[in-house]
Amino acid sequence: MSLPSHIRDVLLGLLGPWNMLLMSASCLPKTILALLRQGKYAVLLSPARLQDAWFNDFWGGMAGPNIRRDAAVRVIPLLQGRASKGDVVDEQVGPALAGTVIEVGAGSGLWVDMYREVASVRAEGEGGDVRRRNVEGSAAVDGVITRVYGVEPNRDQHPALRRAIAKAGLEDVYRIVPVGIEDLDDATKWDGRVEKGSVDCIVSILCLCSIPDPEKNIGELYQYLKKGGRWYVYEHVRCEHSWYMRAYQSLLNLFWPHMIGGCQLNRQTEKTLREAGPWEKIDVGQPPIEPWYQVVPHILGVFTK
Ligand SMILES: C[S@@+](CC[C@H](N)C(=O)[O-])C[C@H]1O[C@@H](n2cnc3c(N)ncnc32)[C@H](O)[C@@H]1O
Repeated sequence: MSLPSHIRDVLLGLLGPWNMLLMSASCLPKTILALLRQGKYAVLLSPARLQDAWFNDFWGGMAGPNIRRDAAVRVIPLLQGRASKGDVVDEQVGPALAGTVIEVGAGSGLWVDMYREVASVRAEGEGGDVRRRNVEGSAAVDGVITRVYGVEPNRDQHPALRRAIAKAGLEDVYRIVPVGIEDLDDATKWDGRVEKGSVDCIVSILCLCSIPDPEKNIGELYQYLKKGGRWYVYEHVRCEHSWYMRAYQSLLNLFWPHMIGGCQLNRQTEKTLREAGPWEKIDVGQPPIEPWYQVVPHILGVFTK
């Protein structure tokens, strides 16, 4: 690559997140106008509810679909058991998503259709009628998903999440849990219950940046996994490349959480996951495609309990 092209790529990489902040800012007047038109004055007067409505418009209507499109080439193989050391591999090296699944921070359901892509889906108690669909050209998948709990506390996202579930034909498998993961086992907060030690897989896609008290809550989530259960993770994390990239990321993070629905840019999520409890196997890394000037670097991988 020529030097000018490289400099252009570095500048675009470094400035990209500011563009995301501008997009989010441009969304706020539309959100306020829509709330005024709908007469939802109580939402306008509550900073937390306004932030939820704003984030819903920004993520579901603007940023999320593009991010989902770009990340799918890594996330779908990850859930098929075709990822190692942060990269996608041709052969299946681990089990695909299966059994009872918790999807943390399901959002507006941008990823709901992937459950049909990565595994067979069969509602609990359903007989031999397995609705099967594999990705074309992929290795044989061994997963059969029987239940998905989509944990999403932002109720503004539920209508879109419900539509995504219906579109994927997953109504009898996918259940929306309308609370944060910190309230998953609180029967006074929602009308269901997930037992600790009963979950086969946890899926977290770009959401551990947004949960409260990550050390405590990731540790809690760990307890929901069965022995041998797997946590599939695709998250953005703190820059580890250098002190100056970390400083630049910290500067951005002065504005980021206020404008991107409470998302924190510089969490050490891999460390927090490693320390959540004993793991039998950890296969995680940063996708090698990400350059040093990636201000929002990711981790991709599987933690097996
Ligand atoms: C950046 S969005 C990602 C949504 C979705 N995973 C996606 O990729 O489109 C982060 C999500 O985490 C959710 N979230 C925030 N706090 C949470 C909590 N305590 N428990 C579970 N999810 C939470 C937010 O409401 C939001 O939908």
